[in-house]
Amino acid sequence: MKPLLETLTGNKQDRPPFWFMRQAGRYLPEYRSTRERAGSFLDLCLDPELATEVTLQPIRRFGMDGAILFADILIVPYALGQSLAYVEGSGPKLEPIRSVDELRSVDHDAFGALSRRIAETVQGVKAEAPQETTVIGFAGAPWTVATYMIEGQTSRDFAQSRTFAYSDPDAFSAILDRLVQATIQYLSDQIEAGADTVQLFDSWAGILPAPAFRSYVIDPTRRIVVALKARYPDVPIIGFPRGAGIMYEEYLRETKVDAVGVDTTLPAEWMRDTMQPQAPVQGNLDPILLAVGGAPMLGAAIDLLRTLEGGPYIFNLGHGILPHTPVEHVEILSTLIREWPTHRLRYGLEA
Ligand code: CP3
Repeated sequence: MKPLLETLTGNKQDRPPFWFMRQAGRYLPEYRSTRERAGSFLDLCLDPELATEVTLQPIRRFGMDGAILFADILIVPYALGQSLAYVEGSGPKLEPIRSVDELRSVDHDAFGALSRRIAETVQGVKAEAPQETTVIGFAGAPWTVATYMIEGQTSRDFAQSRTFAYSDPDAFSAILDRLVQATIQYLSDQIEAGADTVQLFDSWAGILPAPAFRSYVIDPTRRIVVALKARYPDVPIIGFPRGAGIMYEEYLRETKVDAVGVDTTLPAEWMRDTMQPQAPVQGNLDPILLAVGGAPMLGAAIDLLRTLEGGPYIFNLGHGILPHTPVEHVEILSTLIREWPTHRLRYGLEA
C-alpha cells in the first residue's frame, strides 16, 4: 500500500510520510510561470491539464508522499452560483449572500459540470503521479466556506458570519445544509476520479464558542463523513479544524474522521498522548519556521519527528506554505524527512 495511505489506516511507518499544505503555489517559480500561462487563478483551477501540472510540480522537486489536488475551497460556492474573483494582492472576493435562495440547487447541471471538471484534475494526477504517491482530494468544511460566502472576502474574525449564525440560525443552517449536500457530491466526484483520501479544511473552526462549534463545525462534518463512509468505506477522511484547541478531542470522537490535521498551537506531546491512541495525526510545523529555515526549522522538525514517530504520524505544516518561503528550505526539510531513518541512526536521535 502507498505509505501515506498506510499511515492513514493506522499503521505507523519507519519513515513518517509527508506533504505540505499549499505545497503548490507562488513560492515555486514553475508555479508562477504556469499561473501566468493560465491567466487568472480561477482559470488555472478550472483547467484540468494545467491544474494537474501544478499539482505535480512539488512532487517532482521534493518527493512528497501526498499530491493534493490543485483547486480552492471557494470553487464550491462558485459552482453553486455565487460570483467569485481573485483580486491580485487582496485575495478572494465573492458577492456576499444572506439566504440559501440566492444559490443554485445542488443538483443543478452547472454544479455537476464544475464539480466534474475539478475531478478531471484528480484523474490527471492519478494517471501521472508516481505509483507510491497518495492522491489527496479536498474541500472546505461547511462552516469555513459559509464564512467566505457571507463576508464576501477574508476577514480577521468573521464577525458578520457569527452575527448571522446567532441572529438567524434557521437561515444560517439552511446554507450549511446546502453546503453539506454540495460537499458530499463534490468529494464523491473526486473519489470516483481516483482520490485515495480527502481532507476537509475548516480553517476558521477556532473562532467559535463550544456550543456553536458543535452545531456548525462538528455536526456538518459528521454528516459529510457519514455519507462518504456509506459510499466509500475504505477511503480515509482527514479533518483539519484549525484552532480548535481542546475541542479537537470532541471533534475527533464525534465526527468520526479517520485522521486529524493539527494546527501550530497544539503541543506534540499532547498530540502523542491524547490524539495518536485514537487516530493518526498530521502536522504541525509552523509555516513561519519553514520560511526562516536553518537551525530553528530543523530543530523543530526533529522534535516533531522524535515525539510523534512512535505512532501513526504524517509530517505536515500547521497551516499553508507562505509565498515568501525560500525553495531551498522546502528542499532541506523534505530531505530531512525522506532520510529520517538514516539521520536518526547516524546522530543517535531515537525517541
Ligand atoms: O494545498 C495545496 O497546495 C492545494 C491547493 C489549495 C489552495 N487553496 C490553492 C490556492 C488549497 C487546499 C487551498 C485551501 C484554501 N483556500 C483554504 C483552506 C486552507 C487555509 O489556508 O486556511 C482557504 C481559507 C482558501 C481561500 C483562499 N484561497 C484565500 C484566502 C486565498 C488568498 C490568499 C492567498 O494565499 O493568496 C486563496 C488563493 C489561493 N488558493 C492561492 C493558492 C495557490 C493563491 C492564488 C495565486 O496563485 O495568486
